[in-house]
Amino acid sequence: STLPGKKRAPFIVIEGLDRSGKTTQTSKLHSRLTENGIDATLVKFPDRTTAIGKMIDSYLRSTSELDDHAIHLLFSANRWELATTIEKLLLAGTAVVCDRYAFSGIAFSASKVDSTGAPLLPFEWCRDPDVGLPAPDLVLFFDITPEKARERGGYGEERYEKEEMQLRVRNFFRRIGEEMDGEAQSAGGTRWISIDAGREREEVEHDVWGLVEPLVTRGVDGPVGKLWT
Ligand code: TYD
Repeated sequence: STLPGKKRAPFIVIEGLDRSGKTTQTSKLHSRLTENGIDATLVKFPDRTTAIGKMIDSYLRSTSELDDHAIHLLFSANRWELATTIEKLLLAGTAVVCDRYAFSGIAFSASKVDSTGAPLLPFEWCRDPDVGLPAPDLVLFFDITPEKARERGGYGEERYEKEEMQLRVRNFFRRIGEEMDGEAQSAGGTRWISIDAGREREEVEHDVWGLVEPLVTRGVDGPVGKLWT
């Protein structure tokens, strides 16, 4: 670790809608940290490489069907299987940059509706399995309007990549962000920041660096928080 004293490294999560440029910006941030001599590891959820991740992958590509509750719990389990690794990295002074996390888990599952438009899974039920996971120190929510996302070339072929769904997901992300702002302590100390991802790539990159750089340089005091506890 290159951090001063007894400090640990920060846990940074990037969340956002499909077509928000989230994945590009997450890997850019990771390279920039490394180029600046800062220890950093890139993590992505779902992690499709594990046994659970492979089940998630075939569900997303629609080569398998699963009950909505079951797939939700698999997404959560996929985070739990990396929880200890993430915590150890942070304590050892390696910053963790993560592409999607529990917030995607809630926003996407809670957005699922039946043929009459009624929610399939209650919001609280969606949040429960992720309670106690390592809490990010910073969440950057890449916000983009569905219109702007459509201009960027539309969505892909996977499940959930439909405009109506994306609109509901966006609303849940915003609700989660508002609740986090109101109760930073009970949320494990997480700071939530919304980024206008509809702008030029360079502008977004500039803002992200401006928020992350001071955090990785200073380090964080105290243990890793626990989400929603
Ligand atoms: P991802 O692999 O990030 O796909 P992309 O790079 O195309 O954005 O995520 C795949 C899908 O899984 C995406 O639509 C969001 C959804 N998702 C959930 O439904 N629950 C979760 O817990 C996570 C992490 C993602």
